[in-house]
Amino acid sequence: MDDATHASATPAASDPSVLARGLVKRYGDLVAVDGIDLEAHPGTCLGVLGPNGAGKTTTIEMLEGIRAPDEGEVSILGRRWHRHARSIRARIGVQLQETQLEDKLSVRETLRLYRSFYKNGRTVDEVIAMIGLEDKHDAWVVKLSGGQKQRLTLGCALVNRPAVLFLDEPTTGLDPQARRRVWDIVEAFKQDGGTVILTTHYMEEADRLSDQLVIFDRGRIIARGTPASLIESLGVQSIVSVRGEALDQAAETRLRALPGVRGLRRDGGAVVLEVDDTRQVIAGLFELDLAIEDLHTHRPTLDDVFMALTGRELRDD
Ligand SMILES: Nc1ncnc2c1ncn2[C@@H]1O[C@H](COP(=O)(O)OP(=O)(O)O)[C@@H](O)[C@H]1O
Ligand SMILES: [Mg+2]
Repeated sequence: MDDATHASATPAASDPSVLARGLVKRYGDLVAVDGIDLEAHPGTCLGVLGPNGAGKTTTIEMLEGIRAPDEGEVSILGRRWHRHARSIRARIGVQLQETQLEDKLSVRETLRLYRSFYKNGRTVDEVIAMIGLEDKHDAWVVKLSGGQKQRLTLGCALVNRPAVLFLDEPTTGLDPQARRRVWDIVEAFKQDGGTVILTTHYMEEADRLSDQLVIFDRGRIIARGTPASLIESLGVQSIVSVRGEALDQAAETRLRALPGVRGLRRDGGAVVLEVDDTRQVIAGLFELDLAIEDLHTHRPTLDDVFMALTGRELRDD
């Protein structure tokens, strides 16, 4: 897109606030990011889901103007980094994968410091309320829990009232309750018309927060769409996994032949069935009279989408 026209024109609501075309980044012989196109719009979250090493951080850092692409173009709020770095920086919030805060500053002092980098923005009290750290406003950073620290780094990214928020694995290592508190802050930001770019290797997080999702693998986008459409594209009703000592090759063959079974794979000790008709398969399973010790069914998830696309697990932890 032409920078000059966009920098001066008032952006329409339908214009993407983040746009990338043909992004490539190489580290020596390794092509870490191999031709990425993406865009995100106001009031929505674009999720970037993929396993460790897929190129998520490299990509988001090129969007954030931290790493220079070897090829391709980035436009943020209709502007390019090489010409408008200062004005872009004033309007985005960035939470890095590893943000180091000063241990012996309080929550309030930390936010005041970040606030001082910007001409315009929120008051420190406003941010403390947004991240729910009223009780801890005087506490040193070093005394905060992992979840509280993470909310504080989110707060640091919100001090300038950004239009676009970049979050790189914002809840990695947090317990489920702390994770939900981060999600609530992100939801509120989105509700307010903000654009979120979020990387994660948690399918649940991607599913919950993303309006649009791109699935990364080895530097490429291997699927994109809404979480629901990606799951629907699998075309299976459920995933049925069975365990048992005696589930040998012969048993596998019989399972594969059951009416309603679409596909079968091994996952550690379990046989995992992709199923078109759950009732029929469960009924058929019992007819086979195999020695089953554990039976488990779930609706297909983004993990199953990744598995179907790559033959590998999304998660390695
Ligand atoms: N500064 C760097 N120098 C060399 N290789 C790098 C560098 N940063 C990342 N990589 C490599 O690029 C690939 C993508 O990394 P990264 O973008 O961090 O992936 P993700 O965030 O999805 O885990 C990995 O193979 C990683 O080892
Ligand atoms: Mg990363």
